[in-house]
Amino acid sequence: SKIVVLISGSGSNLQAIIDAVKAGQINGEICAVISNRPDAYGLTRAENAGIDTLVLDHKAFDSREDYDAALMEKIDAFNPDLVVLAGFMRILTPGLVQNYLGRMLNIHPSLLPKYQGLNTHQRALDAKDKEHGVSVHFVTEELDGGPVVLQAKVTIESDDTAQTLAQRVHQQEHIIYPLVVQWFCEKRLTMETDNAVLDGQVL
Ligand code: GRF
Repeated sequence: SKIVVLISGSGSNLQAIIDAVKAGQINGEICAVISNRPDAYGLTRAENAGIDTLVLDHKAFDSREDYDAALMEKIDAFNPDLVVLAGFMRILTPGLVQNYLGRMLNIHPSLLPKYQGLNTHQRALDAKDKEHGVSVHFVTEELDGGPVVLQAKVTIESDDTAQTLAQRVHQQEHIIYPLVVQWFCEKRLTMETDNAVLDGQVL
């Protein structure tokens, strides 16, 4: 399968997926990494792995619609089977979401449906939750609301800060995201009428 990865930042999830491709765990190829931020460290990770990179700076566009139209054109030039959002910190227009429905995944650092949006670690602490975690889901028009494929949980300790919690959640991200990408590339994972389906079973 051909994969395009979209990032805005450090790209540690991108790295986990690069490593899983290299290790033969994922039967696919990352054909490009696209960032909306020119300074994203993930671009360096991609270059180090010999992957094509592309910056599409949102500041150069007047509207979200214009940006997403340009982004779609860039993505489609690679004709990917799968688009992976790995810390891509942009809200997507309905048009873009529709275009990749069933073939776009995102990772969100909470146990969805809890804590959609930002500051998830602090919100879990403020709510005195006993556990927290991360979700990989298909992208639909509802922000962080698409069907969940896989979650990993971490126990919240009494001395946790948003930072220590984020660190442990990140470790789990690097395990579950490559696994879900692997399933998709093996054609075991699909989205059908707003459900994630793995090996014929609705998740
Ligand atoms: C992760 O916390 C992910 O859950 C969120 O953005 C962050 C990306 O981290 N969507 P990285 O750039 O992969 O290191």
